[in-house]
Amino acid sequence: MRLLSGIQPSGKLHLGNYLGAMRPQIEMQDQGHECFYFIANYHAMTSLSNAALMEEYTQGVALGYLALGLDPVKTVFFRQSDVPEVTELTWILSCVTPIGLLARGHSYKDKVAQGLSPNHGLFAYPVLQAADILIYKAHAVPVGQDQKQHIEMTQDIQAKFNAAYNCEVLIRPEPMIRQTVAVIPGVDGRKMSKSYDNTIELFGPEKATRKRIMSILTDSTPVEAPKDPDKCNVLALLKGLASESEIKEWENRYRSGGMGYGEVKKRLADLFFEVLGPARKKHEELLKHPDEVERILADGGRRARAVAQETMREVRKACGLKTSHS
Ligand code: ADP
Ligand code: TRP
Repeated sequence: MRLLSGIQPSGKLHLGNYLGAMRPQIEMQDQGHECFYFIANYHAMTSLSNAALMEEYTQGVALGYLALGLDPVKTVFFRQSDVPEVTELTWILSCVTPIGLLARGHSYKDKVAQGLSPNHGLFAYPVLQAADILIYKAHAVPVGQDQKQHIEMTQDIQAKFNAAYNCEVLIRPEPMIRQTVAVIPGVDGRKMSKSYDNTIELFGPEKATRKRIMSILTDSTPVEAPKDPDKCNVLALLKGLASESEIKEWENRYRSGGMGYGEVKKRLADLFFEVLGPARKKHEELLKHPDEVERILADGGRRARAVAQETMREVRKACGLKTSHS
């Protein structure tokens, strides 16, 4: 099965990205799937217009994936902008995408509700995402729960294109969402997201990261009182990192009382560094070898582009678009 996914370089990588998206994606590469993972820098332009930050965050996502175990030989790992054909497909798909479909987008509506004055890129964001997915003829898209609607929009756009041109060039992708870790809460209990400034960074300095974990919002149940394990942000995060048997133990301790939240926060902090320690070390190493990272991205870009160019030949033919190049 061919899988495709992307992450925007619009901030620093956090635990929500890791548990909700990157870890499952990396696991897939070892389960015999053909994976295409990319850094969605064109998408990030809808919220970021600072060249230095764009470069820094792009490098951050590249280093993050590689440090966390993405294997660039097995997986085609690339920057979105190394495949400019995707913008051409975006235009073609725009012409079969109803305005109403985009107007219903949660992500668009949320950003407008937050007071962001919307540009066309933000509105058309799902069309670019559809182009990303359809240009590689991906069968499935491993993402976090928040991306489900975007994949459904891709399915609609794919059907519209094939119907409009009476062809079967584009194939229907399915979302692939891990229900167990659907939405990771941030330190304030809302969804962990860089836009809420409530994240636990993956590669931040140790002291600040420990402090951040100790600051996770909990209720004010006294130490001796029983606590509800299903309503605790700390335990929700611990569930992403600890073994099932350890979680069971903590759940029992919550229910019987006599345990303070400080204790479980301390365990979460230790476990964070235990689980992410090797990746953090590799991240430091990679920081010293930017040329190697660039070589990997360039190679992935070439492999991805070859697939995209093939799809575009079929798409142009279906649409009756002639070009002087192939
Ligand atoms: P952010 O919300 O911080 O801007 P992105 O939208 O860039 O994060 O998300 C990148 C990937 O990480 C997506 O596949 C998304 O589903 C996943 N992801 C982000 N935050 C979370 C979270 N809190 N829980 C689960 N998955 C998440
Ligand atoms: N919209 C996705 C996010 O914010 C990033 C993304 C862009 C993506 N193109 C994609 C994810 C294609 C999956 C497939 O996380």
